[in-house]
Amino acid sequence: MQDGVSICDLKIIRDGKTIIPNLTMQIEPGMIVGLLGPSGSGKTTILRSIVGVQAIAAGTITVLGYPAGSKELRTRIGYFTQSASIYTDLTCIENLRYFAQILGQSEISVQEVLELVDLTKNQKQLASSLSGGERARLALATALLGKPELLILDEPTVGLDPVLRRDLWNLFHRLADQGKTLLISSHVMDEADRCDSLFLLREGCALASGTPVDLKASANTEEMDEVFISLVEKT
Ligand SMILES: Nc1ncnc2c1ncn2[C@@H]1O[C@H](COP(=O)(O)OP(=O)(O)OP(=O)(O)O)[C@@H](O)[C@H]1O
Ligand SMILES: [Mg+2]
Repeated sequence: MQDGVSICDLKIIRDGKTIIPNLTMQIEPGMIVGLLGPSGSGKTTILRSIVGVQAIAAGTITVLGYPAGSKELRTRIGYFTQSASIYTDLTCIENLRYFAQILGQSEISVQEVLELVDLTKNQKQLASSLSGGERARLALATALLGKPELLILDEPTVGLDPVLRRDLWNLFHRLADQGKTLLISSHVMDEADRCDSLFLLREGCALASGTPVDLKASANTEEMDEVFISLVEKT
């Protein structure tokens, strides 16, 4: 598969501890894929390995047809880290211009992403004075610079109010409609319903995968929380 992400027999050890024992997963292009699991289950570790900033002990990760971490992927992946990677002593526009310069992007793309995350009116505001949601949207804007085909978003909606969360999910769906692939981690099971497909993770292992509808049907429930609990009890 050329366009998505293919992980095969991935093993990751951190500080002598096996975090991911053996993980195989496929992420189809143009989809919103949710990586769901409790705190410490390995979501960030997996996302880091796809971006190419995590040493792996075994296995292969192919991203858009290249091995993870390849130079060719630098502008093709947008990464929203769990703690927002923005400079708080710069304004919104200064942050974006800085990252745009690194990525070789134009002023037009800076304006485009500002508009996309609805921060045009805040562009001259210092990032330190932004609200939590505005900060998250600025970090998202930096991840969108360069029009990446693959977006890796590590808990992008944490701490946001329901309206803002809905708006961001609408934006994610618009991006997927344009053909982008989104891999989004969350430990909030009700966000699962907004994804096209899901991987449920526990202690570095995929407990189950499939569409939200299929996973709920297989556990005979309407609640994603219950799907997870029933899978945990089964294993
Ligand atoms: N630098 C590190 N050295 C050793 N162990 C680490 C390191 N970073 C993370 N871990 C461990 O790896 C495991 C998975 O961590 P990870 O950050 O991937 O989890 P997560 O699912 O993203 O959790 P959260 O929902 O809290 O963000 C945890 O047990 C964590 O303690
Ligand atoms: Mg994490």
